[in-house]
Amino acid sequence: MIYKRSSALFAEAEKVIPGGVNSPVRAFNGVGGTPIFVKEAKGAYLYDEDGNRLVDYINSWGPMILGHAHKPVVDAVVEKAKKGTSFGMPTEIETEIAKLAVSMVPNIDKIRFVNSGTEACMSAVRLARGFSGKDKIIKFAGCYHGHSDSFLIQAGSGASTFGTPNSPGVTQGTAKDTLLATYNDIENVKALVEANKDEVACIIIEPVAGNMGCVPPKNDFLKKLRDLCDANNILLIFDEVMTGFRLAKGGAQERYHISGDIVCFGKVIGGGLPVGAFAAREEIMNYLAPIGPVYQAGTLSGNPLAMAAGLAMLQELNADAEVFSRLEAKTKYLHEGIAKVLTENKITHTINRVGSMISVHFDAAEVVDFNTAAKGNNDTFKKFFHGLLNEGVYIAPSAFETWFITDALSYEDLDFTIAAVNTVSKTL
Ligand SMILES: Cc1ncc(COP(=O)(O)O)c(C=O)c1O
Repeated sequence: MIYKRSSALFAEAEKVIPGGVNSPVRAFNGVGGTPIFVKEAKGAYLYDEDGNRLVDYINSWGPMILGHAHKPVVDAVVEKAKKGTSFGMPTEIETEIAKLAVSMVPNIDKIRFVNSGTEACMSAVRLARGFSGKDKIIKFAGCYHGHSDSFLIQAGSGASTFGTPNSPGVTQGTAKDTLLATYNDIENVKALVEANKDEVACIIIEPVAGNMGCVPPKNDFLKKLRDLCDANNILLIFDEVMTGFRLAKGGAQERYHISGDIVCFGKVIGGGLPVGAFAAREEIMNYLAPIGPVYQAGTLSGNPLAMAAGLAMLQELNADAEVFSRLEAKTKYLHEGIAKVLTENKITHTINRVGSMISVHFDAAEVVDFNTAAKGNNDTFKKFFHGLLNEGVYIAPSAFETWFITDALSYEDLDFTIAAVNTVSKTL
């Protein structure tokens, strides 16, 4: 495929935007090459600035679960826009979407809308700290909760000591309050809790990890975490920015029958507009300003266009009893098709899948945490990525990302993708 215009646009962008992009993973650093500029998208397809059509497995990193430019969502936004785009005053639609979200998701009474997943997770942690009166948090290596300071932490010198910043600009003072644990390793989490007795406010986790590829919780890990939190008066934060309204109406909480104390949302809940949210039972949410002491705010929070898109999206998902099983069936079909052709072509691989999240890892044994995900062969992944791109299939430009399946994909699209994987496998 030809990317002449994308390359020219990228060169222009680089002059005025750092690295030419407004979010680093878009820059293709993980795979090399020049990012593709999108002109428009419809259903399961992206159309780039060079006139290529790509079957899209990223879907804006998750939000477009029903496909691009989904009519009910677009119509809702257009209608709303005609009536004014922002007021900084309450609107009825905020209550409407809040009621619907609370009715779809288990264990939440109240929800606060923000503008991104980062804000949702950052605010959830502040709320947990304010509510519990404790400072430390535990997060898992390989889980991503946005780019706020407390989360940009890497392992410190010893497993049970505090982490260190993994970005300049994050202070040691902030880093010392974040403890880093190993996903799917309950003994490791127990040791951290024990070593920091009565100091841990919350444990934050992606209940199905999606930021080291797709990594499912194993061996009742979530249940064990829940029990550990209950026994130690620690709040469990489920970061459902990826899994919320994707794995089920009620997200991972519903799928695994485990409750979080605070739940974070992003992506699908905004229907493709900038929306995040966090939610909990009333007692916790009433700790927030203006009725409680924990401060949290936003000029554009609950923005009418964003709420219109999110409401239309949630209404669609709520009204369609089959949508999540349809998504899962398509993802299973893709999984089996890809596994078959990779095996036939003797390519060592592991495929992880939960619901409509899936990832392909090369040369890796079972992928259960960040370390096992990092053992994957990145050179093979790069060839795989560029090979698929050349065949008209767009997957995430990083070996550490999940593919997001959209309901707009037809079985012909899936067969097209499996055939593309077969072609590319012969070159790996
Ligand atoms: C699980 C999870 N939490 C939080 C975030 C941050 O969301 P945002 O990029 O909207 O700030 C992401 C983004 O990919 C995510 O995957």
